[in-house]
Amino acid sequence: MSVNTIAINRQMSHFDDHASVWLFGYGSIIFKADFPYLERRPAHIRGWARRFWQASHDHRGTPDAPGRVVTLIAQEGAVCAGMAYLITPEVFAHLDHREKNGYLRLATPIMFEDGQQAEGLIYIAAEDNQAFAGPAGEPEIARQIAGAAGPSGPNSEYLLKLAQALRELGAEDAHVFAIERHLLQLGPAAAVLSSGQRA
Ligand code: BEZ
Repeated sequence: MSVNTIAINRQMSHFDDHASVWLFGYGSIIFKADFPYLERRPAHIRGWARRFWQASHDHRGTPDAPGRVVTLIAQEGAVCAGMAYLITPEVFAHLDHREKNGYLRLATPIMFEDGQQAEGLIYIAAEDNQAFAGPAGEPEIARQIAGAAGPSGPNSEYLLKLAQALRELGAEDAHVFAIERHLLQLGPAAAVLSSGQRA
Protein backbone atom coordinates (compact mmCIF):
# COMPACT_ATOMS: atom_id res chain seq x y z
CA MET A 1 0.00 0.00 0.00
CA SER A 2 1.68 3.23 -1.12
CA VAL A 3 -0.38 5.94 0.50
CA ASN A 4 -0.26 9.23 2.25
CA THR A 5 -1.17 8.20 5.80
CA ILE A 6 -1.47 11.87 6.81
CA ALA A 7 -4.50 12.27 4.54
CA ILE A 8 -6.08 9.00 5.73
CA ASN A 9 -5.51 9.82 9.41
CA ARG A 10 -7.07 13.28 8.95
CA GLN A 11 -10.29 11.60 7.83
CA MET A 12 -10.58 9.73 11.12
CA SER A 13 -13.43 11.51 12.88
CA HIS A 14 -13.93 9.05 15.74
CA PHE A 15 -12.94 11.51 18.48
CA ASP A 16 -13.94 14.76 16.78
CA ASP A 17 -16.38 15.75 19.50
CA HIS A 18 -13.92 15.00 22.34
CA ALA A 19 -12.00 17.77 24.11
CA SER A 20 -9.22 15.30 24.94
CA VAL A 21 -8.24 11.77 23.87
CA TRP A 22 -6.01 9.08 25.36
CA LEU A 23 -3.12 8.07 23.12
CA PHE A 24 -1.40 4.78 23.97
CA GLY A 25 2.34 4.88 23.29
CA TYR A 26 4.22 1.62 22.86
CA GLY A 27 7.39 2.79 21.08
CA SER A 28 9.43 5.97 21.14
CA ILE A 29 6.51 7.84 22.64
CA ILE A 30 7.16 6.00 25.92
CA PHE A 31 10.55 7.65 26.36
CA LYS A 32 10.18 10.75 24.17
CA ALA A 33 6.93 12.66 24.18
CA ASP A 34 7.68 15.58 21.86
CA PHE A 35 4.16 16.97 22.15
CA PRO A 36 2.11 18.66 24.86
CA TYR A 37 -0.08 16.46 27.04
CA LEU A 38 -2.49 16.93 29.92
CA GLU A 39 -1.70 13.73 31.80
CA ARG A 40 0.50 10.64 31.44
CA ARG A 41 -0.22 7.20 32.95
CA PRO A 42 1.34 3.72 32.62
CA ALA A 43 -1.13 1.49 30.81
CA HIS A 44 -1.50 -1.60 28.66
CA ILE A 45 -3.55 -2.85 25.76
CA ARG A 46 -4.70 -6.41 25.13
CA GLY A 47 -4.53 -8.50 21.96
CA TRP A 48 -1.48 -6.75 20.51
CA ALA A 49 2.21 -7.71 20.52
CA ARG A 50 5.02 -5.15 20.05
CA ARG A 51 7.36 -6.15 17.22
CA PHE A 52 10.37 -4.57 15.48
CA TRP A 53 8.75 -5.27 12.13
CA GLN A 54 8.45 -1.79 10.63
CA ALA A 55 11.25 -0.31 8.52
CA SER A 56 12.35 3.24 9.26
CA HIS A 57 13.66 5.18 6.27
CA ASP A 58 12.97 8.61 7.69
CA HIS A 59 13.75 8.61 11.45
CA ARG A 60 16.12 5.79 12.48
CA GLY A 61 17.48 4.82 9.09
CA THR A 62 17.73 5.95 5.49
CA PRO A 63 16.28 4.60 2.23
CA ASP A 64 19.63 2.87 1.56
CA ALA A 65 20.07 1.47 5.08
CA PRO A 66 16.65 1.34 6.72
CA GLY A 67 16.39 0.84 10.45
CA ARG A 68 13.69 -1.05 12.30
CA VAL A 69 11.12 0.39 14.70
CA VAL A 70 8.14 -1.12 16.47
CA THR A 71 4.60 -1.70 15.34
CA LEU A 72 1.80 -3.79 16.82
CA ILE A 73 0.74 -7.21 15.57
CA ALA A 74 -2.63 -8.66 16.51
CA GLN A 75 -2.07 -11.71 18.73
CA GLU A 76 -4.64 -13.42 20.89
CA GLY A 77 -3.78 -13.27 24.59
CA ALA A 78 -0.93 -10.79 24.15
CA VAL A 79 -0.55 -7.83 26.49
CA CYS A 80 1.47 -4.78 25.45
CA ALA A 81 2.61 -2.41 28.19
CA GLY A 82 3.29 1.25 27.47
CA MET A 83 2.43 4.79 28.43
CA ALA A 84 -0.87 6.56 27.83
CA TYR A 85 -1.01 10.32 27.23
CA LEU A 86 -4.13 12.46 27.47
CA ILE A 87 -3.86 14.88 24.56
CA THR A 88 -6.01 17.45 22.81
CA PRO A 89 -7.08 16.70 19.21
CA GLU A 90 -4.71 19.40 17.81
CA VAL A 91 -1.76 17.18 18.73
CA PHE A 92 -2.81 14.64 16.10
CA ALA A 93 -1.61 16.90 13.27
CA HIS A 94 1.91 16.69 14.71
CA LEU A 95 1.73 12.93 15.29
CA ASP A 96 0.21 12.24 11.86
CA HIS A 97 3.16 14.05 10.28
CA ARG A 98 5.78 12.39 12.50
CA GLU A 99 4.36 8.91 11.83
CA LYS A 100 3.54 9.37 8.15
CA ASN A 101 5.71 6.42 7.11
CA GLY A 102 2.86 3.91 7.29
CA TYR A 103 1.17 4.40 10.67
CA LEU A 104 -2.61 4.69 10.86
CA ARG A 105 -4.71 5.68 13.84
CA LEU A 106 -6.91 2.99 15.36
CA ALA A 107 -9.38 3.26 18.25
CA THR A 108 -8.81 0.74 21.04
CA PRO A 109 -9.56 0.16 24.72
CA ILE A 110 -6.70 1.21 27.02
CA MET A 111 -6.32 -0.33 30.49
CA PHE A 112 -4.70 1.70 33.26
CA GLU A 113 -2.76 0.10 36.05
CA ASP A 114 -5.41 1.07 38.64
CA GLY A 115 -8.01 -1.03 36.77
CA GLN A 116 -9.71 1.89 35.02
CA GLN A 117 -10.30 1.70 31.28
CA ALA A 118 -10.83 4.26 28.50
CA GLU A 119 -11.27 4.18 24.76
CA GLY A 120 -8.28 5.78 23.08
CA LEU A 121 -6.00 5.65 20.07
CA ILE A 122 -2.94 3.81 18.89
CA TYR A 123 -0.86 4.29 15.76
CA ILE A 124 -0.33 1.01 13.91
CA ALA A 125 1.77 0.20 10.86
CA ALA A 126 -0.15 -2.70 9.31
CA GLU A 127 1.27 -5.49 7.15
CA ASP A 128 0.02 -3.83 3.94
CA ASN A 129 2.00 -0.62 4.40
CA GLN A 130 4.94 -0.09 2.04
CA ALA A 131 7.50 0.09 4.88
CA PHE A 132 6.43 -3.13 6.59
CA ALA A 133 9.61 -5.19 7.03
CA GLY A 134 7.95 -8.21 8.65
CA PRO A 135 9.36 -10.94 10.85
CA ALA A 136 13.05 -11.79 11.08
CA GLY A 137 15.19 -13.55 13.68
CA GLU A 138 16.06 -11.43 16.69
CA PRO A 139 19.84 -11.65 16.02
CA GLU A 140 19.23 -10.45 12.46
CA ILE A 141 17.04 -7.57 13.67
CA ALA A 142 19.79 -6.58 16.13
CA ARG A 143 22.37 -6.53 13.31
CA GLN A 144 20.14 -4.37 11.14
CA ILE A 145 19.55 -1.96 14.04
CA ALA A 146 23.29 -1.80 14.75
CA GLY A 147 23.95 -0.68 11.18
CA ALA A 148 21.26 1.98 10.90
CA ALA A 149 20.98 5.65 11.80
CA GLY A 150 18.76 8.45 10.54
CA PRO A 151 17.76 12.05 11.18
CA SER A 152 16.39 11.14 14.65
CA GLY A 153 19.63 9.41 15.65
CA PRO A 154 21.11 5.90 15.80
CA ASN A 155 18.62 3.04 15.58
CA SER A 156 20.43 1.42 18.54
CA GLU A 157 19.54 4.43 20.70
CA TYR A 158 15.85 3.83 19.91
CA LEU A 159 16.13 0.16 20.94
CA LEU A 160 18.17 0.78 24.09
CA LYS A 161 15.96 3.64 25.29
CA LEU A 162 12.81 1.61 24.63
CA ALA A 163 14.20 -1.39 26.56
CA GLN A 164 15.22 0.87 29.45
CA ALA A 165 11.81 2.59 29.51
CA LEU A 166 10.08 -0.83 29.58
CA ARG A 167 12.26 -1.92 32.52
CA GLU A 168 11.35 1.28 34.35
CA LEU A 169 7.67 0.44 33.78
CA GLY A 170 8.27 -3.06 35.15
CA ALA A 171 7.08 -4.44 31.81
CA GLU A 172 8.06 -7.83 30.38
CA ASP A 173 8.77 -7.93 26.65
CA ALA A 174 10.79 -10.97 25.57
CA HIS A 175 11.12 -9.77 21.95
CA VAL A 176 12.53 -6.31 22.81
CA PHE A 177 14.84 -7.63 25.53
CA ALA A 178 16.18 -10.41 23.27
CA ILE A 179 17.04 -7.91 20.52
CA GLU A 180 18.70 -5.67 23.11
CA ARG A 181 20.78 -8.64 24.34
CA HIS A 182 21.87 -9.50 20.79
CA LEU A 183 22.78 -5.87 20.08
CA LEU A 184 24.93 -5.63 23.21
CA GLN A 185 26.67 -8.88 22.21
CA LEU A 186 27.74 -7.23 18.95
CA GLY A 187 30.11 -5.05 20.99
CA PRO A 188 30.31 -1.43 22.09
CA ALA A 189 30.49 -0.01 18.55
CA ALA A 190 27.01 -1.44 17.83
CA ALA A 191 25.29 0.02 20.89
CA VAL A 192 25.46 3.71 20.07
CA LEU A 193 23.23 6.03 22.08
CA SER A 194 24.06 9.23 20.20
CA SER A 195 27.03 10.60 18.31
CA GLY A 196 30.10 9.34 20.12
CA GLN A 197 28.17 8.05 23.16
CA ARG A 198 28.10 4.29 23.73
CA ALA A 199 25.92 2.21 26.02
C1 BEZ B 1 4.46 4.88 19.90
O1 BEZ B 1 5.49 5.19 20.44
O2 BEZ B 1 3.53 4.45 20.50
C2 BEZ B 1 4.30 5.01 18.46
C3 BEZ B 1 4.86 4.08 17.67
C4 BEZ B 1 4.72 4.20 16.34
C5 BEZ B 1 3.98 5.23 15.80
C6 BEZ B 1 3.41 6.14 16.63
C7 BEZ B 1 3.56 6.03 17.97
